[in-house]
Amino acid sequence: MLRSHTCGELRVEHVGQQVTLCGWVDSYRDHGGTLFIDLRDRYGKTQIVFAPEGGAELQERARGFRPEYVVLVRGTVALRPEGNVNPKLPTGQIEVRAVAAEILNPSLTPPFQLGGREVPAEDLRLRYRYLDLRRPAMQGILLLRHRMIKLMRDYFDELGFIEVETPMLGRSTPEGARDYLVPSRISPGCFYALPQSPQLYKQILMVAGYDRYIQVARCFRDEDLRADRQPEFTQLDLEMSFVNAEDIIAVIDGLMVRLAREFLGLELQTPLPRMSYDEAMERFGHDAPDLRFGMELIDLTDLAPGCGFRIFSEAAAAGGRVRGLNATGAANRYSRKGLDELARYVADDFGAKGLFWFKVEGDGQLTSPIAKNFNPDTLAQIAQRMQAAPGDLLLIVADRFEVTCKALYGLRKRLGAELKLYDPRQMHFSWVVEFPMFEFDHERNCWSAMHHPFTSPRPQDVDLLSTDPGRCRAQAYDLVINGSEAGGGTIRIHDNKLQQQVFALLGIDQQQAQERFGFLLEALQYGAPPHGGIALGIDRLVMLFAGADSIRDVIAFPKTQRATDLLTGAPSPVEPQQLRELHIDVVR
Ligand code: AMO
Repeated sequence: MLRSHTCGELRVEHVGQQVTLCGWVDSYRDHGGTLFIDLRDRYGKTQIVFAPEGGAELQERARGFRPEYVVLVRGTVALRPEGNVNPKLPTGQIEVRAVAAEILNPSLTPPFQLGGREVPAEDLRLRYRYLDLRRPAMQGILLLRHRMIKLMRDYFDELGFIEVETPMLGRSTPEGARDYLVPSRISPGCFYALPQSPQLYKQILMVAGYDRYIQVARCFRDEDLRADRQPEFTQLDLEMSFVNAEDIIAVIDGLMVRLAREFLGLELQTPLPRMSYDEAMERFGHDAPDLRFGMELIDLTDLAPGCGFRIFSEAAAAGGRVRGLNATGAANRYSRKGLDELARYVADDFGAKGLFWFKVEGDGQLTSPIAKNFNPDTLAQIAQRMQAAPGDLLLIVADRFEVTCKALYGLRKRLGAELKLYDPRQMHFSWVVEFPMFEFDHERNCWSAMHHPFTSPRPQDVDLLSTDPGRCRAQAYDLVINGSEAGGGTIRIHDNKLQQQVFALLGIDQQQAQERFGFLLEALQYGAPPHGGIALGIDRLVMLFAGADSIRDVIAFPKTQRATDLLTGAPSPVEPQQLRELHIDVVR
């Protein structure tokens, strides 16, 4: 070993010892004849002193050190003189008085400062990822990620789960995103699909008798990217046999208790709170509500007929909804211009036809450019329903149910952050359950699976499959943390007849079903146990636990929003010869 200790290790008890440290030059101060260098590695920082007593030659050499040079320093551990102690640094009571030093490797001048408090621009960080990952903040996150995954593996191991790897080169899986395809050289015109999840393999593992499976699994989905989505991401994937939804929820509750205790210092009460999908849509307009703050959606539809304001009464008459939220105390937070901006936001991002607002005056009266259209009784009823108090701002949308959900969900999310309605470090865990089996796909004019086609309906809802599929509820459950979908799973169909019925509703005929999932359907007929599972988004979990703003901050080598890798330049064109071997012609 070149070094005797790391840069985070030395303490008062090491005083007097000869040590050798290796690391990167973090900072550099020249104080009238004495040179101070902070030497950094992933364990911490240690102050190195090049004093005149060490000799002019050594000092001269140290003057040649520059940020991010890799250096080796030999010296004696000493107490820092009084006044120089740094209580913020674990090594802040000592320093190393250098007797020898050498440059192991110089560095080009980095394009951004690594030690600074400011976060460098993201394109630079991604282009020079090795420098970005050298920053202590990033090293902290990758260490957290490692420890969280280790805890997960240990937890499931204790419960008797085994990890089984499933193929990367496989057949298209049914998670509903676009596939990443890999051309086959040996079978011209044929393609593998990278897995969107190990869904089908894990079900087959249940048929094979591996009743408790987990995998830290890479998944690939070619979809529009956002702050919490990557084209390539990692799931903690799990499947169990002879269980119901309660059993799976309990296993994950137990995991969350451990993770929260270990990494947040938080004691979670289990069972974690639960809410049905319908309730979530009514109260928050979304199936992954942020429960760290209130400001729930309030329904006003019953007050709309005869209220005097045509947009409200017409929306109600057309089967839509009039709903709003009360931004308490925010009447003076938003100017006319600010309110116009909010209106544009709900229109542009969520297609709402309008955003109507009232300010609550000191005497409790509602004022607004539209107030004169309303009969006074209705205004009073609206105020009462929305628990309006002087200084409040009432925001209302009148539209199709889906539009009111999306617009008010977006508005609530935005106002929650703008009005600082929660402490960003607070963590809230809950489940959303009883999802609908199907959503109606107006483009294809048939039902589509809300989760995936192998999801089992609730036993009491099976009859609805033939009478009223829209009302049929699934045995599905999503784990929601701080308004983010951290995981989702279902109990699967293990009965072939039921599966055929669901396929028929999804517009998948027998031939298509055979082509796409014939191997699974066949396997399910060879003694498939009742089974179900879930997958947690590990990147999202780490992001939430680390308090990071973007999923890219918790992945060592992420892609940009345009799915490119700025470090390596992927994706890139390939040699014509490679394309020929793959029987591929590129048409531009
Ligand atoms: P689902 O599609 O809900 O379920 O995915 C499970 C969890 O994976 C995370 N996730 C993502 N994370 C980052 N980037 C993405 N593009 C991305 N897409 C999904 C989310 C999500 O909750 N096979 C089923 C699970 C099952 O039924 O057992 C599945 O993949 O946190």
